[in-house]
Amino acid sequence: MSNTIDNTLVVEGLSGGYDRFDVIHDIAFRVGRGEAVALLGPNGAGKSTVLRAITGLLKHRRGTVTIDGTNVVGMGPHQISRGLAAMVPEGRRLFVGQSVEDNLRLGGMRLRKDRARTDQLLQSVYDLFPVVERYKAREATALSGGEQQMVAIGRMMMSDPSLMLLDEPSLGLAPLAIADLITALQQLRERKSSILLVEQRVDIALEVCDRIYVLSEGRIVDEGRASDIGTEGRALIDAYLG
Ligand SMILES: Nc1ncnc2c1ncn2[C@@H]1O[C@H](COP(=O)(O)OP(=O)(O)OP(=O)(O)O)[C@@H](O)[C@H]1O
Ligand SMILES: [Mg+2]
Repeated sequence: MSNTIDNTLVVEGLSGGYDRFDVIHDIAFRVGRGEAVALLGPNGAGKSTVLRAITGLLKHRRGTVTIDGTNVVGMGPHQISRGLAAMVPEGRRLFVGQSVEDNLRLGGMRLRKDRARTDQLLQSVYDLFPVVERYKAREATALSGGEQQMVAIGRMMMSDPSLMLLDEPSLGLAPLAIADLITALQQLRERKSSILLVEQRVDIALEVCDRIYVLSEGRIVDEGRASDIGTEGRALIDAYLG
């Protein structure tokens, strides 16, 4: 498929849900290589379900989800997490009772036999987030919300994935921590990572991402370039987000 060449992620005709009910319907979108894309939408729109469908956590899914040229529909989360996609899940879900560094190393399990690569990735996380290095021996869940979010992003980076997915990383963070998060996301973007960011905060999405898609009731209802969205567009998105 020629249209996948410059894209890290191509989603076409993706439907799926839980038990007997579909909650996402015929979804199509893409994330270019090195591009940061936001998926915006109100509570219950199906944003997390889309991320679960991409990472293989959602069993009931149909359509195609191509990551780096591989259709991952039909693959399980363990296969997909081997370098194709990694996620910062809703609520971060750090490993309780484990140190910051252990959390990072657990994120890099697939590369554990390649010690040089693991050490290199660990160093790149520490270079990006000095605060994470400073607290590397602490219990991860004892850190502040903003610091924990950095650990969760670092853990995602440790598997060196083609595609990085983040599910509402700003949720529950204080304003100062949100400013740090925006800086962190911008740095990830500067490293040419391919990013799919789920957010309810339109301002964060527009600041960090190249393009946005709006999801409503399980369908993509709008899309655009972040730089083209003026005050009017922003009001429209806010209206969708209720
Ligand atoms: N495990 C589940 N079992 C059954 N239904 C679910 C499950 N998880 C989500 N749903 C339903 O699927 C729909 C989409 O939920 P989803 O979590 O994807 O929305 P969301 O856009 O991520 O919302 P939020 O902004 O609140 O996180 C909702 O109607 C929700 O109730
Ligand atoms: Mg969600």
